Amino acid sequence: MLQTIIAGHHLPVCLYNASGAMCTTKSDLGLLADSHAGAVLTKSCTLAYRNGNPKPRYHETAIGSINSMGIPNLGYEVYAQTALEHHQKYPPKPYFVSVSGMSINENLEILAKLNQTEQIAAIELNLSCPNLPGKPQVAYDFPQTERMLDAVFDVYQKPLGIKLPPYFDLVHFEQIATILNQYPLHFVTCVNSIGNGLVIDWQTETSVIKPKGGLGGIGGDYIKPTALANVRVFSQLLRPSIAVIGCGGVKSGSDAFEHILCGATAVQIGTQLMKEGTDCFARIATELQQIMQQKGYTNINDFKGKLKTIE
Ligand code: SIN
Repeated sequence: MLQTIIAGHHLPVCLYNASGAMCTTKSDLGLLADSHAGAVLTKSCTLAYRNGNPKPRYHETAIGSINSMGIPNLGYEVYAQTALEHHQKYPPKPYFVSVSGMSINENLEILAKLNQTEQIAAIELNLSCPNLPGKPQVAYDFPQTERMLDAVFDVYQKPLGIKLPPYFDLVHFEQIATILNQYPLHFVTCVNSIGNGLVIDWQTETSVIKPKGGLGGIGGDYIKPTALANVRVFSQLLRPSIAVIGCGGVKSGSDAFEHILCGATAVQIGTQLMKEGTDCFARIATELQQIMQQKGYTNINDFKGKLKTIE
């Protein structure tokens, strides 16, 4: 009932983790593999191990989160190695690797290496991390995004999608969609956290995270309307062969239902996974299934992208 297809790979359940949430260590990835998630996606990786930003760098509020992790990860080799182990143990569950090199050349080098690991179902190229001091979010710079995708598709022919930041202006949606439509992308993930928010503790009169003077990416309930708008508009503007994966503010079956109604082919879970752990996948899947049963839907395609608007 909840199955879907991403980049030619069958997911038994259309829910999985957002990159960054509980997916950095081998033990995290094992928990995801053992869970009810329909796929496993790694933390964004670089060529070498990276410590990331100073702590505290993640903070939960009652309705969401702020983070400035700074891409802490074990280096691409660990995630390629884990792909082999994952494939032996969980062959039906696709394993996706998120890549976030610090330059075009670093991304090309990582992709050239990952190209050799056929157990990786697809790459999610992260062009939207808001937490790298001194480095703008690539996908807000349209000429730079084109240069990146030209270079990437020169060397990489296997399934690849990109993780986008949230956009807010319809002109920007159209400009970036025109660029993305030129490339053989398999999917886009909408959205990364809303960059450079500020959460403060009024009692101590202090920001809650340390990097960037307290600024960080906002996730959770705060971002669901923005995420839904991005899913909706990109599913209308992109070629039908580019799937849109929804991400942002999903903590229940109805949130997942809304993302799919806006056009999502699958739905990622970030902040709620951090709060609840991997049990969230089975719970949200059950809730989504109940909603579908009540409405008489037997497959997500019965309602995917079918949001009604008021004429
Ligand atoms: C981080 O590691 O800073 C989060 C990753 C991201 O937002 O892309």
